[in-house]
Amino acid sequence: SGLHTLAKAAGKLYFGSATDNPELTDTAYVAKLSDNAEFGQITPGNSMKWDATEPTRGTFTFTGGDVVASLAEKNGQLLRGHNCVWYNQLPSWVANGHFTAADLTDVITTHCGTLVGHYKGQIFLGCDQRSVVVNRIARATFLIPSYSEPFNDDGTWRSDVFFNTLGQSYVSIALKAARAADPNAKLYINDYNIEQTGAKSTAMLNLVKQLQADGVPIDGVGFQSHFIVGEVPGSFQTVLEQFTALGLEVAITELDIRMTLPATDALLAQQQKDYQSVVQACMNVQGCVGVTIWDWTDKYSWVPSTFSGQGAALPWDETFNKKPAYSGITAALA
Ligand code: G3I
Repeated sequence: SGLHTLAKAAGKLYFGSATDNPELTDTAYVAKLSDNAEFGQITPGNSMKWDATEPTRGTFTFTGGDVVASLAEKNGQLLRGHNCVWYNQLPSWVANGHFTAADLTDVITTHCGTLVGHYKGQIFLGCDQRSVVVNRIARATFLIPSYSEPFNDDGTWRSDVFFNTLGQSYVSIALKAARAADPNAKLYINDYNIEQTGAKSTAMLNLVKQLQADGVPIDGVGFQSHFIVGEVPGSFQTVLEQFTALGLEVAITELDIRMTLPATDALLAQQQKDYQSVVQACMNVQGCVGVTIWDWTDKYSWVPSTFSGQGAALPWDETFNKKPAYSGITAALA
């Protein structure tokens, strides 16, 4: 058994985890991350972002991203790219730049094209058990503004250097650059708070429909799924189906379910139910290709440093013991 093994047996492409370069000095952590019975896919949490890869204009450094890509290859795991364009973790030359529309178009085209081009053919999707590459389709997660990534929670566009300079055309500029750099790359837009019906998921549906009508390449939508225990949206499966009905694939890309600390038995039991229902939503939708948790152990979760007093969001605790949440996931995958 193991999460990836179960997911594959159930017809999904993978069950995976995010990771981050500083954690890779922890040998016990790396041993578990590298167990591809549990994780058949990894995503770099930070090291392919703009600040890490193009800290000054035209100077690209792929050192950190390459470490994660090599680890995935060594482990026989799939790799999701993360990310091309996002308002956060931008180097100051982008975040504080004063660009003309033509100049920023060039900046985005160069960044996305170089990033996706660098990982062309390295972002595998699918090796069978004999390590024969059966599907070399890259999945570059094209992630646009965050904390409401292209959108604010009310469905309006986020004000950032990209939107303020180029309007929503920056989305198609980036997607076209990525497609040109790697025609086999599956291109995703990734966002959070689009997992329930409402203004924000409607805005994303409308964006995708517009991109399709305009002939802009778009293959999938990633649902980040940073949830709170007891507050998992009930309409998630419905939303996933709204997107697959457009001919897209969907993926759960950054799942974690946080709680107010300390973790009590009651909270952990509710978290188990919540993990089961989220993973079940993906299982129930044929076009949902896989689930990625945003790291696997509470030891390296992003949650406590961002949400004071909250945490315990992942299926393994800080000492790498499985929590009830793990059983919730296996119940859904079985
Ligand atoms: O690199 C600096 C380091 O030089 C410095 O010493 C240190 C001091 O705090 O900070 C380091 O940067 C941190 C960076 O992670 C790399 O570790 C930032 O402070 C920290 O804010 C940053 O957090 C990341 C966060 O994105 C930033 O928005 C998390 O690790 C990462 O897990 C998180 O991931 C995002 C996804 O990319 C998009 N969706 C939401 C998700 C959660 O926020």
